[in-house]
Amino acid sequence: MSSDLERVKDEILAAGNLPRHVAVIMDGNGRWAQKRGLPRIEGHRAGIKSVRDIVEATGELGVEMLTLYAFSTENWNRPRFEVSVLMKLLLQTINSEINELDEKNVKVTAIGRLHDLPDGTRKALVKAMDRTTENSGLILNLALSYSGRSEIIDAIKKLGQALQKGTFDIDAINEAQFQNFLYTTRFPDPDLLIRTSGELRLSNFMLWQMAYTEIWVTDVLWPDFRRQHLYQALKDYQARERRFGLVFSKDENDTIEQ
Ligand code: IPE
Ligand code: IPE
Ligand code: MG
Repeated sequence: MSSDLERVKDEILAAGNLPRHVAVIMDGNGRWAQKRGLPRIEGHRAGIKSVRDIVEATGELGVEMLTLYAFSTENWNRPRFEVSVLMKLLLQTINSEINELDEKNVKVTAIGRLHDLPDGTRKALVKAMDRTTENSGLILNLALSYSGRSEIIDAIKKLGQALQKGTFDIDAINEAQFQNFLYTTRFPDPDLLIRTSGELRLSNFMLWQMAYTEIWVTDVLWPDFRRQHLYQALKDYQARERRFGLVFSKDENDTIEQ
């Protein structure tokens, strides 16, 4: 790593208020490829290098959790060829990276309708999760066949079943209890959302969990995204005041009763 990057990393660590959970909408693979006259799938292939760098960089900083939006439920409606190459790439990447992830103490988890994934891909994923389940470093959470709305619907179905069975009481429903039925039950909400390639939308990502997430968008396309961009996002995050609907600024007039 260059000394400039090392310096920025040290500044981020010294500032202290790191996000516990960083979520990323990895967008722009297709545009990256098209700009080069290449098929879209070459953008997906190139994006794997970015994943490696960002996983390593967040792990080194001591961020607790990184959620990567890798495939949405809507993405199933893309051309069949693109979907099948993406699923193969996912399988190959899990298999080629798992040793190093395990060595780096990364714990792999996933959210989404995983039963929709092709058998081979799902099995490789489950194997990777099982193998790393005891690891205590970065939690690398992959959002696969994921959408925020389908997560909420799945949660409502689970809740409905619990009500029917009588294991849960309707009066006990509150935000904290509802959260227990989501895919992310045990995880903190994302503190920071990064979206690459300039689009200013959530695209159905973690709708419940993002209620107070700080958003940072860059025009950089995902295959060009590297740790220096992550560091920019983190510095920006560290300079923000998160208010959660409260008042933090000190204005003397506020104390004068009208
Ligand atoms: C993000 O890149 C990867 C996935 C959604 C799987 P895109 O494939 O959406 O790339 P663009 O947005 O078309 O450039
Ligand atoms: C969001 O990107 C989904 C993933 C990054 C996996 P999309 O490219 O699918 O989102 P839209 O179509 O631009 O909203
Ligand atoms: Mg896109």
